[in-house]
Amino acid sequence: MKETIDALRESFRRELEQARDSEAAEKLRVAYLGKKGSVTGLLKGLKDVAADQKKAMGQAINQLKKEVEEGIAAQVEKIHAAEEEALVAAAEQYDVSLPTGESEGSYHPITLVQRELEEIFASMGFTIEDYKEIVTDYECFEAVNIPKDHPARDMQDTYYLSNGQLLKTHTSAAQNAILRKYGAPLRAIFPGRCFRNEATDACHENTFFQMEGIMVDKNISIANLIYFMKTMLSQVFQRDINVRLRPGFFPFVEPGFEMDISCLICGGEGCPSCKNSGWLELCPCGMIHPNVLKAGGVDPEEYTGFAFGLGLTRLVMMKYGVKDIRDLNSGNLKALSQFKHE
Ligand code: DAH
Repeated sequence: MKETIDALRESFRRELEQARDSEAAEKLRVAYLGKKGSVTGLLKGLKDVAADQKKAMGQAINQLKKEVEEGIAAQVEKIHAAEEEALVAAAEQYDVSLPTGESEGSYHPITLVQRELEEIFASMGFTIEDYKEIVTDYECFEAVNIPKDHPARDMQDTYYLSNGQLLKTHTSAAQNAILRKYGAPLRAIFPGRCFRNEATDACHENTFFQMEGIMVDKNISIANLIYFMKTMLSQVFQRDINVRLRPGFFPFVEPGFEMDISCLICGGEGCPSCKNSGWLELCPCGMIHPNVLKAGGVDPEEYTGFAFGLGLTRLVMMKYGVKDIRDLNSGNLKALSQFKHE
């Protein structure tokens, strides 16, 4: 009987090592300690053992039983630890950024066009500047040659704060700070949100976006202005764009122009969208007024420059055929989520 006990111990050790999951451990327990298990069988057989050996055999079998019980308990503990580890490893593979099947977000069309313009101008050596929305009267008006009581202020009524500051009416309000920041020579664009006290309709909003640009250097002329505008517009619309300049008055430029582009809908033939003229008004611009350069710390005797104030909201409406400007501020996802990256 002693040999049987030893043989059982041996086979138990081998089998225990093989038991890699809870199910295998349980099977092992039944095979050794269950009602019909081998150890139980040995204990049952004890009654047939000679009286003088019973005690020793009994102790040996109980020792084996203890070893089997403890062996299985230790193995089960190991198995549980491994199972837990596997669970944690699986959890680590979970990716918080995976789509949930909900509909994807999209960029606002103004953001899309703004980024496109930023890329185009950056490739032409312009820096991109961010600027405040709340500015002083000096920044918005006086620094750009619109003194107090100048009639040009009438067209740019805005929202005033009790401390005298105001919501900027045009991105030109950043010109002075940027001229001071970099001095000459300089090329910069500064997109921004603008505000005006405006009765809203399909073409007017109290909140809209512009993108201003200035270039200051020695010998800058209107030819440079036309070149940069034409290049930019051709890239935005992905085709060659004809432009024309008409005289226009803005206190911060001299001479000042309205830049028109040939109508994209009729190709310049004349259609309802361009009021049959073949041209669309897009971008006021001009040569920076000496007073503005002076206020920005740049010597107008030495440097000249051009400036433009592109109506970003307007450009978006034209590029995507948005007929009502109010759709752009509406937060209406049905309308706004239709614009994707190209
Ligand atoms: N700031 C003008 C406006 O909002 C637009 C403008 C016109 C900007 C001519 C310019 C410019 O830089 O040269 O009405």
